[in-house]
Amino acid sequence: MADHTVRPIALVTGASSGIGRGFASRLAHDGQDLVLVARRRDALDALAAELRAANGVGVEVLAADLATDAGVAAVEQRLASGDIELLVNNAGFGTSGEFAELPLERELRQIDLNVRALVRLSHAALTPMYARRRGAVINVASTGGFQPVPYMATYAGTKAFVLHFSEALHEEAARHGVTVTCLCPGPVKTGFQDAAALDVSRMPSLGWTSVDEVVGQALSAARRRRAIAIPGALNRATAASVGFIPRFLTRRIAGSMFRDAAARRQAPRG
Ligand SMILES: NC(=O)c1ccc[n+]([C@@H]2O[C@H](COP(=O)([O-])OP(=O)(O)OC[C@H]3O[C@@H](n4cnc5c(N)ncnc54)[C@H](OP(=O)(O)O)[C@@H]3O)[C@@H](O)[C@H]2O)c1
Repeated sequence: MADHTVRPIALVTGASSGIGRGFASRLAHDGQDLVLVARRRDALDALAAELRAANGVGVEVLAADLATDAGVAAVEQRLASGDIELLVNNAGFGTSGEFAELPLERELRQIDLNVRALVRLSHAALTPMYARRRGAVINVASTGGFQPVPYMATYAGTKAFVLHFSEALHEEAARHGVTVTCLCPGPVKTGFQDAAALDVSRMPSLGWTSVDEVVGQALSAARRRRAIAIPGALNRATAASVGFIPRFLTRRIAGSMFRDAAARRQAPRG
């Protein structure tokens, strides 16, 4: 029998800016209680106060560095309490440039955050969701996960992992009444470009989507129990084209776009 004393909650990682902040705002607007996770406690506290005042929802703040064992363990512990109805594994960052020239430590931190934390938090969330036979996980990958991306090699590799991992979990979870949806955004103007030291000023504006569009399509896909959400018609077409364009060509096209954007580098954040 369902425990009606427990109010379901959504936990969003990377909620202090960009797409994660967009998820938090949309969910709060829909009346959902929240746990907000990121490193910057001040930004989370300010957002929590804003969302409580505007929507009358309960908002917890859990400041944690998900590239560290202790940070992930704190969020795993919160998920284990069994009241999380929706987990949005959104925290992530990218790096750009020639792999051999990039500091190895930051490449490994990217894998720790984009892959290792996401796997651990998916595991921690799914166990109680399976027991209740309800719940949803949205894992944020990227259109960069559909093909190799020279000059963003590690980032695209992490997102290919997230895509394949999430699709596999989608099939397993469906048997337990739980949905796993992989969100694959194309370019969205957020803190991501600065953190990745990408200059996208000369990139065509066609594939760009807004945070609102990305969040709306992800939540709608999860409600409809879809495995993958790719916001934007051009992004959907590009992802589909990978299936019939020769592989060497897709990686060369991606490489020519990102070599230029990575070459006009600014100082990376975080
Ligand atoms: N924007 C795009 O074009 C785009 C496209 C495809 C996919 N994505 C994906 O979308 C997701 C969200 O990115 P965004 O575009 O919203 O970028 P963003 O504005 O830079 O947001 C990244 C979020 O992740 C958090 N974060 C970073 N490192 C963290 C860590 N070690 N521990 C905990 N939280 C951490 C940041 O908060 P703190 O700094 O406070 O920790 C921030 O809230 C990422 O997974 C990204 O790969 C973005």
